[in-house]
Amino acid sequence: MTKGERAYYVTTPIYYISGEPHVGHVYTTVVADVLARTARTFQPTFFLTGTDEHGQKVANAAAAAGKTPQQWCDELVPRWKALFAGYHVQYDDFIRTTEKRHIVKVQRVFEQLRERGDVYLGKYEGWYCVNDETFWLASKLVDGCCPTCGREVEWISEDDWFFRLSAYRDRLIEHFRRFPAWVQPRSVYNEMMAILEEGLEDLSISRTNFDWGVPIPGDGGVIYVWLDALLNYITAIGWSEDEARFRTYWPASTQLIGKEIARFHTIIWPAILWALGEAAPELVFAHGWITIDGQKMSKSLGNAIDPFALKERFGADSMRYFLLREAPFGSDFSYSEEKIAQRHNGDLANDLGNLLQRTLSMVGRYRGGVVPAGRPGASDFAQTFAGLPMTVRARILDLRFREALEEIWRLVTALNRAIDERKPWVLQKEGRSAELDALLYDLCEGLRWLAVLLHPVMPERTRNMWRQLGDPGAIDADWSSTLARWGGLEAGTRTAIGASLFPRIELLAAEP
Ligand code: MSP
Repeated sequence: MTKGERAYYVTTPIYYISGEPHVGHVYTTVVADVLARTARTFQPTFFLTGTDEHGQKVANAAAAAGKTPQQWCDELVPRWKALFAGYHVQYDDFIRTTEKRHIVKVQRVFEQLRERGDVYLGKYEGWYCVNDETFWLASKLVDGCCPTCGREVEWISEDDWFFRLSAYRDRLIEHFRRFPAWVQPRSVYNEMMAILEEGLEDLSISRTNFDWGVPIPGDGGVIYVWLDALLNYITAIGWSEDEARFRTYWPASTQLIGKEIARFHTIIWPAILWALGEAAPELVFAHGWITIDGQKMSKSLGNAIDPFALKERFGADSMRYFLLREAPFGSDFSYSEEKIAQRHNGDLANDLGNLLQRTLSMVGRYRGGVVPAGRPGASDFAQTFAGLPMTVRARILDLRFREALEEIWRLVTALNRAIDERKPWVLQKEGRSAELDALLYDLCEGLRWLAVLLHPVMPERTRNMWRQLGDPGAIDADWSSTLARWGGLEAGTRTAIGASLFPRIELLAAEP
């Protein structure tokens, strides 16, 4: 996409506010932030996240704490916002499903679907998993329990409203065939296709045996929490209210989710959108899980890691880097503190932090802290790395974060190698001043490129780099201006060596 094209709209799932957030929630949100920060450098961008506050799961959690659900949510939301702020997440909007702006539109959707005949009254008898807020056919249960989370299911027998999901099966299959990349990764696409081929049941979209939800207009009961929740993606951007704004952003460019909720987002969600006369999102990307000892990290499994503590320990930017660099996006990855420490000490402290430190101390020692005039036009770096910004941008928007970082690390490695091979201290000693100027210039310019390219991933540490490099302009401007050519850094810029970017972290040896 180039400037002037449609806006970039990226979303995360809205998180159940049934307790404290964990690292899994940070993961999706940080990834969305990296996408948004990258897109924002060159096109209008909107990044939405938020909290899923209705439903039995949240109501039960509140009741267990002796609070009303609203009180419970109001108390927890600031924790989630503080967490995201602590991880430098810059969302454009944070939607809460208990907000009026959302509730009225969810009711409007319900009415529209009912008027169109896509919603009808019927009897629901079957199983329900409260943890996943999911209806299950008896044939799908595993040993009588929820096939997704393994918990016990409840028997439900209610007069409910149904959404005519089965009527959308053919269109869904056709859509999947026509746009084979709309659901990624391929494994999830295949899994969803298999579900479609097996056949679809209509979906109950109301609940009558409890009341923590959006009331059904003109009837008792509340709207099924998943219908309520999915709609956040359009209620937040002005559906049925601000047509121009809605058209600017919908269909979403990238909807990020964890793979366990792929069915809701790639089967139920497009069908609802079509029933409303709207388009399906351009891409739903269902990423893998952070696992511990082979198990999904989750609150219900009791193995959740506190992201506040991790941030204190490793720093938000190192955590962000780790989450994007460690595993290909889409695959599961196993989490361990050793791995975070290795990335931090290896890639960040040794490769990047030392490069900055070494460079600036030589500029200090040999050139009084001032960037000398180099020969950027004749530099090998100019040639080798001319295409790097556009490659990195493409990899990021393609959600190939690990590859994007590997590309950036080619420059880190090349700059470190230039110091080791061309030995500035020898150039200084032998009085080869023009060569030394050219080399020091390239090192500073290379660091400027690195700060710009890494800014979406590590917004705080790169600002620190930027200050040390003398604050050379806007770090988050369009790369086609900041990185238009090798040589953007002005000779004469005064650098200011600062504290180490990534102080090494020593892990205590595990207890035997
Ligand atoms: N409220 C629903 C989503 C509604 S969206 C319209 C929900 N909430 S949740 O709190 O359970 O959050 C699920 C999401 O959190 C996952 O889809 C994923 O994005 C993220 N993660 C939760 N645990 C995770 C891991 N262990 N690993 C990676 N991501 C994880 O489902």
